[in-house]
Amino acid sequence: MANDNDDIRRRIRTIPDFPKPGIMFRDITTLLLDAEGLKLTIDRMAGQVEGKVDLVAGIEARGFLFGAALAVKLGTGVLLVRKDGKLPGATIAEDYALEYGTDRIAIHADACTPGARVLLVDDLIATGGTARAAVRLLRKAGAVVTQAGFVVDLPELGGAAALRGDGIEVNALVA
Ligand code: PRP
Ligand code: ADE
Repeated sequence: MANDNDDIRRRIRTIPDFPKPGIMFRDITTLLLDAEGLKLTIDRMAGQVEGKVDLVAGIEARGFLFGAALAVKLGTGVLLVRKDGKLPGATIAEDYALEYGTDRIAIHADACTPGARVLLVDDLIATGGTARAAVRLLRKAGAVVTQAGFVVDLPELGGAAALRGDGIEVNALVA
């Protein structure tokens, strides 16, 4: 393989048993602290984008960082996908399943013009519950969502496969 992104992988730290026993937490704060690592990440995420994108949607909270940096690189604005109750204007919201119970994310109802080509961005995809809810929400708002970019995919949790089933091209730098 020409580039296996090992230079990015080794800048991501794993913390065992966070936030609860048995979880191997993939901690991207170490990647963010590293100027070269951050630049490599954004350059390579940008390299995976296909065609023209009108807007980048970043998922709270870590997705905001990669989403905003990528938006600057692509020359677009950023749309915030937030935990419900945080956005001040009129919103639309979607529930999604967590390991135990449900959570809710929201976007401003007028955040994108119908037909806008929106690239979804987050730091990591695990079960895909968050990203799939974000896609439902963006599509409800009239966005055309066909691709999503992540720094990390945890393929054994099935999220990327499920998102592909929703008609999304899924890119991740490391698995
Ligand atoms: C993490 C991560 C993704 C989501 C992935 O966010 O940043 O958004 O979990 O999990 P899933 O694919 O199983 O839905 P978290 O909910 O921990 O929020 P945070 O970014 O605010 O810490
Ligand atoms: N979000 C869901 N699962 C995660 C993991 N293992 N590491 C970091 N963020 C996560």
